[in-house]
Amino acid sequence: MPVVLGIETSCDETGVGIVADGVLLGDALATSMDEHARFGGVVPEIAARAHLHAITPMVRHALDRAGLGFADIDAVAATAGPGLATAVQVGLAAGKAYALTLGVPLYGVHHLAGHAAVDVLDHGPLPARSVALIVSGGHTSLLLLGDLARDPVVHLGDTADDAAGEAFDKVARLLGLPYPGGPAIDAAARHGDPTAIAFPRPMTAPGDLPYRFSFSGLKTAVARWTERHHGPLPVADIAASFQEAVADTLTRKAVAACRGHDIDTLLLVGGVAANSRVRALAQQRCHAAGITLRVPAPRLCTDNGAMIAAVGDLLVRAGVGPSALTLGADPNAVLTRATIPGAALQG
Ligand code: KG4
Ligand code: ZN
Repeated sequence: MPVVLGIETSCDETGVGIVADGVLLGDALATSMDEHARFGGVVPEIAARAHLHAITPMVRHALDRAGLGFADIDAVAATAGPGLATAVQVGLAAGKAYALTLGVPLYGVHHLAGHAAVDVLDHGPLPARSVALIVSGGHTSLLLLGDLARDPVVHLGDTADDAAGEAFDKVARLLGLPYPGGPAIDAAARHGDPTAIAFPRPMTAPGDLPYRFSFSGLKTAVARWTERHHGPLPVADIAASFQEAVADTLTRKAVAACRGHDIDTLLLVGGVAANSRVRALAQQRCHAAGITLRVPAPRLCTDNGAMIAAVGDLLVRAGVGPSALTLGADPNAVLTRATIPGAALQG
């Protein structure tokens, strides 16, 4: 079975994974998160420099953990977009260098396809059709998936403004919680009452597009509430009530998308899929609706290298042609298929 080396550097995680035939053989992850914390968000130049330092050691670590050497690698997959331009470029350049020196094909893949593909490592092959809810720091989309390696991805709805993860990060900042905000809100919410404050459920009124999202108004509602409040902020209650509003909105729309398209499998993926309440409510609602929920283990929900190796593995096994080594990074790539469009090698 071909062994695929995957490289992910689209944001602040330098991830490397090694996958063969749907099995994760080894992976390694470095993060520059601490270097960005005092800026309240990721600084692209700092992230890119950190990737440059971390990429070679992470490849070595992942190979060691898999008990493999460079000679065992049959293909390389690297995130070619979307993401921070300078950050993506480091990983893509590294991927090209490994592919060229090892004499193996390169696959420039879409970061969000990686979020979906990673579930194969935890739960086996994807069904012929599924609905995927991808919720990350930069994206929130409800998608119709067929064969992820071959079929185009159909967007049922995306966010009109902020992504769900972005809302977590911004609300955490309002509450004086550290970056990244998602895990901090998740932790604070454990001690709070999710019914304490009735925050709005955006885009859920009759007449609203059923599969479209919007989180900027919810973030503003939290800001207005905190401005009007006198005395110490009830951080745990605000965190729990905000988290409940996000979890309710996401899972309601995802279940509706499955029902509306007669699909019985929901794939919940991306960094926000690591959220304990989003996972629990999705499980409860899918169970009630007779939908099979697939959610990767939390460590595979946030950015990592295994997810990119998982896409590469699907592409290689499906016989999809590799990318040209002239492929450029596409920081704004829209998810239309697993590979970055225009990247296919001719002939
Ligand atoms: O997928 P990801 O690792 O990176 C992107 O592709 O953006 O997602 C990162 C996002 C951040 O906004 C982070 O706050 C959020 O995922 N996140 C969470 C949790 N863990 C990470 N949000 C809510 N609860 C969590 N436990
Ligand atoms: Zn991501």
